[in-house]
Amino acid sequence: MPQELKNNRLIKALLREPVDMTPVWIMRQAGRYLPEYRATRKKAGDFVTLCQTPELACEVTLQPLLRYPLDAAIIFSDILTIPDAMGLGLKLIESVGPRFERSISTLSDIKKLPLPDPEQELKYVMDAIRLVRKELNGNVPLIGFSGSPWTLATYMIEGGSSKNFSKAKKMLDKEPDTLHLLLQHLTDAVVLYLNAQINAGAQAIMIFDTWGGMLSTPDYMEFSLSYMKRIRDYLKTKNSENRVPVTLFTKGANQWIEDIAETGCDGISIDWNCNIGEVRKRVGDRVALQGNMDPSMLREDEEKIVGEVRSILDSYGHGPGHVFNLGHGITPDINPENVAILVDAVHDLSQQYHKK
Ligand code: CP3
Repeated sequence: MPQELKNNRLIKALLREPVDMTPVWIMRQAGRYLPEYRATRKKAGDFVTLCQTPELACEVTLQPLLRYPLDAAIIFSDILTIPDAMGLGLKLIESVGPRFERSISTLSDIKKLPLPDPEQELKYVMDAIRLVRKELNGNVPLIGFSGSPWTLATYMIEGGSSKNFSKAKKMLDKEPDTLHLLLQHLTDAVVLYLNAQINAGAQAIMIFDTWGGMLSTPDYMEFSLSYMKRIRDYLKTKNSENRVPVTLFTKGANQWIEDIAETGCDGISIDWNCNIGEVRKRVGDRVALQGNMDPSMLREDEEKIVGEVRSILDSYGHGPGHVFNLGHGITPDINPENVAILVDAVHDLSQQYHKK
């Protein structure tokens, strides 16, 4: 039974349809800056168990929405669920970050990687989505997500987070065909995973290419963007209710925005190293833009935060097609009260840009 969204600002803005005010959500809105997140994580025991327990994942997904009038929920999960489901063994090590028990270095490692069935190995994500949709009861849309093939490949080859991506870049330089095989396998897995998320109830999709900006321009086109385009082409961008807009985020990609728009995505998420008004001029009305406040602005006082919100809204200017967000994830040291200031400022100050 199709369900009307009570607050449909996010979907409308991504499809560049008129809205009454600019929608806002925060990358990593469910996370360690919230004391209630830390409490649920403690109850779960560890991060991977939290992700894999649908009731707890649902609980933390909803936590930021109980505090703030956000215009979207994003399913609590991680981009590294896919490599974990391929058997790499994900662990999150306190103050180090994610690590895999096994990493990928040879062609034979890649040939052995299974293609996870989203309703089997990743069923916990689909169950969490179904649960959150039930709990949201049509109040705001639910965003589903995945990592990009290139970003997932860097974690799989490096065995976890990395500063200089030496192993992944070595594979790119010395064995590009091997890397392409891994990227194609990941593309197949991401398409299955995101289509399953849409079937389970995700109403918008975001693809995180956190490390695409580490590549040269030709390498970005060949090893990252082309696979995101393939994913976009194979997504069924309609669920039982609505069009499902797709947003791409490559951190550090400001010189490539036109190329990203060419993929046919609905939205592009941009970081804070660019002026959103200038980016808007470059892409015209081809795509919606999401962003782009520097997450560190949330460490400032109320006056500075409101001033920065005003300046970003003013830079984007009048008309639809803007989703307010940070240029990257919120950090654990942020005072939750400052998020309330940000969300209220976006809603209050943006109305003047949407008058007819
Ligand atoms: O936005 C949301 O609220 C949804 C949840 C979400 C998480 N990870 C939860 C998480 C999303 C969308 C992600 C995506 C993700 N995960 C990305 C892409 C987006 C980005 O930020 O660039 C990447 C690169 C990862 C991989 C990952 N997971 C890293 C590097 C880390 C450790 C870094 C850190 O912040 O500690 C994680 C762990 C992680 N994923 C946490 C959360 C809330 C922290 C877990 C904890 O300590 O409780």
